[in-house]
Amino acid sequence: VTNSLTREREIDYIDLPAGITIRQATLSDRGALIIQWAPEWPESCFQPGWLRAHDYSNTPLPDDGLRVARHWTAGDIAEPPTTDGRDVLTNDDVLESWLQDLAQYGLARLSNVTPEDGMVAEVVRRIGPIRPTNFGFTYDVKITSNPDSNAYTSMALDSHTDLATREYQPGLQFLHCLENSTTGGAGTMVDGFRVVQDIKTENPDVFETLASLEWTFTNRAVDTDYRWLTPLIIHDRDGQLSELRLTGFLRGPLALPFDKTEAAYNAYRYLMEKVRQPEYRLIFDYRPGDLVAYDNRRILHGREAFSSDKGERWLQGCYSERDELRSRLRVLARNHRA
Ligand code: OGA
Ligand code: ZN
Repeated sequence: VTNSLTREREIDYIDLPAGITIRQATLSDRGALIIQWAPEWPESCFQPGWLRAHDYSNTPLPDDGLRVARHWTAGDIAEPPTTDGRDVLTNDDVLESWLQDLAQYGLARLSNVTPEDGMVAEVVRRIGPIRPTNFGFTYDVKITSNPDSNAYTSMALDSHTDLATREYQPGLQFLHCLENSTTGGAGTMVDGFRVVQDIKTENPDVFETLASLEWTFTNRAVDTDYRWLTPLIIHDRDGQLSELRLTGFLRGPLALPFDKTEAAYNAYRYLMEKVRQPEYRLIFDYRPGDLVAYDNRRILHGREAFSSDKGERWLQGCYSERDELRSRLRVLARNHRA
């Protein structure tokens, strides 16, 4: 029994009398199945569409989100899939087009999003709640005088995921370009799932090593001290790839039995050499107004070094979760049916 207001269950299976059986089953004139129970219990009514959707012959619940992923190399997409985002705050079709690309490619860009401080948070709240971190609800990626991250310098950043130092690595990351008048600083994106699938085919031993041996990621600042121990490749319970964790510049000392260290380093090198290959690495320029979104547990992002002599490079970033993306896409789809 579902509460009509909350749409959550009021009675769980264990509240039914143990050993309850069907006393009588009949069809209503509209085709619903009516069940009467023994011992006595309020009758149940099942609509035929619901029964078909949930009968025991079905495969797992269809997932309109990440399972439909299209894994890509740089040759497959010349640019991040792009939607004109000037109306993203008010137009659901714009939002949906962008989010569908994000679900499929793990990478999707909006162009023409007003390059103003705080805009990225407003856009992300169209999807769902922001995930705050020690870097704030949003953070400014620009050169600062006392940087607590390599990101806040003009250094190149090798392909990485953000916050591999956390038990739960953020599912989505957003970078909004507010200013870009320096030279260099192109963005880079690699579909990490594509890379590790290729590794699995070419070299199953390396794949197995990456999926089993644990690395340490650490990040310390004056008031924080994050550490996490994890394999670089993580699968979900059906054996599907679910996550990559790879942040070279936050790698801590390896904590493995000595006889495993050589295999670990060799596998790491194999992975990183592949990640750096131009075949996988999409390179693109940030224009003010570009807002790039990606699945931070699948896509590896990075940037080329830039010159700090003249001009300004300012991105504003923010995190959210895969759950919010899937939920928003389902709600947007519901509106089509209405
Ligand atoms: C980051 C990052 C990339 C860039 O802030 O996490 O990787 O293009 N930035 O500056
Ligand atoms: Zn980053």
